[in-house]
Amino acid sequence: MSQATWDAVDAYVEDRLLEPDAVLQQALADANAAGLPPIAVTPSQGKQLHLLARSIGARRILEIGTLGGYSTIWLARALPPDGLLVTLEREARYADVAAANIERAGLSAIVDLKVGAALQTLPLLAAERPPPFDLVFIDADKAHTPDYFRWAVQLTRPGAWIVADNVIRDGALVDTEVRTPDVLGNRRLHEIIAGDPAIAARVSATTIQTVGAKGYDGYLLALVLEPDRARG
Ligand SMILES: C[S@@+](CC[C@H](N)C(=O)[O-])C[C@H]1O[C@@H](n2cnc3c(N)ncnc32)[C@H](O)[C@@H]1O
Repeated sequence: MSQATWDAVDAYVEDRLLEPDAVLQQALADANAAGLPPIAVTPSQGKQLHLLARSIGARRILEIGTLGGYSTIWLARALPPDGLLVTLEREARYADVAAANIERAGLSAIVDLKVGAALQTLPLLAAERPPPFDLVFIDADKAHTPDYFRWAVQLTRPGAWIVADNVIRDGALVDTEVRTPDVLGNRRLHEIIAGDPAIAARVSATTIQTVGAKGYDGYLLALVLEPDRARG
């Protein structure tokens, strides 16, 4: 199998199962024109996040890693008019592009875009004692994914989903020769879920390998459990 096949299959699926969407296409075009890296989720992945949020009737979503707001728009569109999506982005320049894209999508009223390093904005968010989130999408610097995951567990309700993207990285997850901060972060994520009692008792998780227009990668999916429920 080759990247060309994965691209062709993604295109086939998009042609048949996704509606043409001028707002989302313009969001990607503007991010590209502004020089943002082309690392947003694919359309199919965006729709999967959207469907996941809809399937649980999500009213409150937390996203860590906004970029140009592409996944933000997919997720926020799953919310009711009085819902809220809080999205965290470190780069002010990226956040400006995202804000314009979110505005064009008509979602500014339900999206709260916070600029700053997530390890600084998350404690501030937690200090506000917000109602629990129904879904958290972790898609920022992978070295800190385990830290974001801990925050996500703290900030969600039982029954919430936590999705952590890009955890496979061409199989580097299990290649012991690779010790980059991103890969070490993804390994630590799996290790805390497997072995840290405070985390292991609170979630049931799996990781799914994927191929597609963004190559070979995958995501971790965790269900937040009632505090006293044994892990499934
Ligand atoms: C993969 S991109 C996000 C893509 C976006 N979720 C989408 O699919 O459209 C990762 C983003 O995380 C941001 N980021 C990296 N480190 C961060 C940090 N410490 N705090 C907040 N955002 C960070 C990057 O600037 C980048 O915009």
